[in-house]
Amino acid sequence: MARAGVYLETFGCQMNELDSELVAGRLRALGYEMTPNPEDASIVLYNTCSVRELAEQKVWSRLGELKSRKAKDPGLVVGVLGCMAERDGEALIRRMPVVDVMAGPGELDKLPELLDNAVRTNASLAREMPGGIRRADGNLDESALRSAGQVALQGNTSRRSSTLGAAQDDLELLDLSRAISPTDHNGSAYVRITRGCNKFCTYCVVPLTRGAEMHRPPEHILDECKRLADAGVIEVTLLGQTVNHYRFEHAAAESVNGVVQPQKGRAYKGGHDRDPFAGEDVTTFADLLHRIHEEVPAIQRLRFVTSYPRDFGNDVLQVIRDCPRICRYLHVPAQTGSDRMLQMMNRGYTVGQYMEFLDRARSYLDQPEIGRPLTVSGDIIVGFPTETNADFDATLKLLRDAKYKNCFIFKYSPRPGTVAYEKIEDDVPDKVKRERNNEALRVQAEISDEISRSLIGSTLGVFVEGPSKKAKKAAGLSHGQIRQAGQVELTIGGRAGTGEAADGGVATIKPDAEPVQLSGRTDGDHIVFFDTPAGETPASMTGRIVPMRITDADRLSLHGKPA
Ligand code: SAH
Ligand code: SF4
Ligand code: F3S
Repeated sequence: MARAGVYLETFGCQMNELDSELVAGRLRALGYEMTPNPEDASIVLYNTCSVRELAEQKVWSRLGELKSRKAKDPGLVVGVLGCMAERDGEALIRRMPVVDVMAGPGELDKLPELLDNAVRTNASLAREMPGGIRRADGNLDESALRSAGQVALQGNTSRRSSTLGAAQDDLELLDLSRAISPTDHNGSAYVRITRGCNKFCTYCVVPLTRGAEMHRPPEHILDECKRLADAGVIEVTLLGQTVNHYRFEHAAAESVNGVVQPQKGRAYKGGHDRDPFAGEDVTTFADLLHRIHEEVPAIQRLRFVTSYPRDFGNDVLQVIRDCPRICRYLHVPAQTGSDRMLQMMNRGYTVGQYMEFLDRARSYLDQPEIGRPLTVSGDIIVGFPTETNADFDATLKLLRDAKYKNCFIFKYSPRPGTVAYEKIEDDVPDKVKRERNNEALRVQAEISDEISRSLIGSTLGVFVEGPSKKAKKAAGLSHGQIRQAGQVELTIGGRAGTGEAADGGVATIKPDAEPVQLSGRTDGDHIVFFDTPAGETPASMTGRIVPMRITDADRLSLHGKPA
C-alpha cells in the first residue's frame, strides 16, 4: 500500500543534498512516495542550513507559510532536518509549533521512526483535538508533544553525545544502505568520505551542527563508487568539509556488528609530502583518490570538495596530475586576504602560505597546452568584525592574485554558538558589508570574465547535466520542481516546452518550438550552455560527456556547440 506523499526540499551545501538523497531513498524503500509538489504532500520536510542567517530565514518563511494549511489540516506532518534542527533544537519547535519532527544531520537514520510516530499521532490528534498539538490557547501542548515522541532526538552529533560509537555506526549504515538505481540520477553523484569538521573557524557553525571529523572506511567508499558506476554514474564528487584531511588507519580500525567504523580525524602530519609515518597501513587522501581512479575506471570524472588550503600535500597533487580522470579543479576557500583577519578567523594559515599553495598546485596541474588547465574557485567573507578598509583592500588583492574561476562572496553573518559571535562584536555596519560585497563581486567578475573569454574557440569535454534552468522555466516548471530537478522528468522531446507543466513536470510542447537549452560542466567546472542538437533529446544527451566547441562566454558561463 502506498504511504503518504513526501515533499522534501533541500537548502545549504552538497552534504545536505546527499543527505536528502539518502533520506528520500530510505523513505521510498519504506513505501513513501516522493512528490515534487508540496501541495500534494501529507509530509513536508525541509533539510536546512544554518551557515548564515539568510539561509535560516528562508526556512522560517517556508514554515510560516505552512501555518494556515496546518490549521485546516492537522494531519499534515512537518519536519525540519539538517543543521537548523541540530542548532536550534527544541527552541525551533517552540518558535514554530507547526513543526512536528526534527532530526539533525547526525540523526537522519532515525527519521523513518520519527515520521511514523508523527503521522500516527497527528492523525489521531486531528481526530481527537482539532488544532493538532496546540492547546486551546494556541500554545504548544508540550505533553502531547512529548508523548507523541515528536521532539527530535537532539544532540546526537558526536560533540554532544556520549554514545558516539553507536550514533556513528547508525549513520554509516544510512550511507551503506544507499539505494542506487540506474534511473534516478543524471550520471553524477556525491560520495561522502568525511563527516563533520575539527577546524572551528571562529565564524562557522558547521563543527557544531555536523560534529567531529570522522573518516569513512575506504572499502565503503570504493564499494559505493563501484555500485554507482554499475548504475551508470560517470561523475563522482567526493565530499568533506576539509576533504584533503582524509586519512584512515587500518591498524586502528574497529568493527561494530561486523561493520567497519568511521574513524576520528587526527592532526595532519604530512607537511608537503606523504606522511612519512603513514605506511602501508594508512589510506591517505592521495591513496584514496588513486584507488578510486584505478579500481573504478568507469568513473570518467572524479572531483572533490572542499579543500582546506593547508595540509594539502604534493602527493595529492601528483596523483591528480597523473590520473587523467581526476578533474583539475580545486575549491579552496581563502576567506580573506588579510593576515590579521585570518588569525581572528582561526584559519591557521597566512596569505603567503595560501598563495604558496596555489602556486604549488598550479605548478603541478596547470597544463593549458594539453587542454587541461587547472581551475580554482574560492569563498570570501567580507565584513568580519573589525575588518578595516586596509584589510578589505588586501582581500581585493588576493582576488586579483588568486585568479579564481569564480568566488562565492559572503557578508559575515554572526552565528550563535560560534566563538566570533560570543566574543567579538559584529561591528562592521551592514551598509559597509554590502558595499564591500559589491566591490569584491565587481573585481571577481572581471577576472571570471577574462578566464571565460580565454576559452572561446577551444574544444572542451562537457558533462551534460540536463535542461538548463531557463529551459525548465520556459517549460513552466515551478520553482520547487526546478529545485527538485533530480526527481522531475522533463520529457519534452528535444524541444522547448511551452504552457504550463502538467503532472509530474511533464510539459506540453509546440512542434515549432525552439530547441531545449541544456547545461553541463567542463572538467574545470565551467558551466556551459548549448542547444539540444538535431537528432538528440535532452534525455539522450544527459549524463554524457560531449566535446563542445566554445563559441561565446560571459563571466559566469560559457556557450558552446557540440564539436
Ligand atoms: N568547509 C568549507 C566551508 C563550509 S561553509 C571550508 O572551510 O572551506 C561554506 C562557506 O560559507 C565558507 O567557506 C565561508 O566562506 C562561508 N561561511 C561560513 N560561515 C559563515 C558566516 N558565519 N558568515 C558568512 N559566511 C560564512
Ligand atoms: Fe567551517 Fe572552517 Fe570547518 Fe570549513 S573548515 S566547515 S569554514 S569550521
Ligand atoms: Fe549549511 Fe550545514 Fe552545509 S550549516 S553549509 S547545511 S553543513
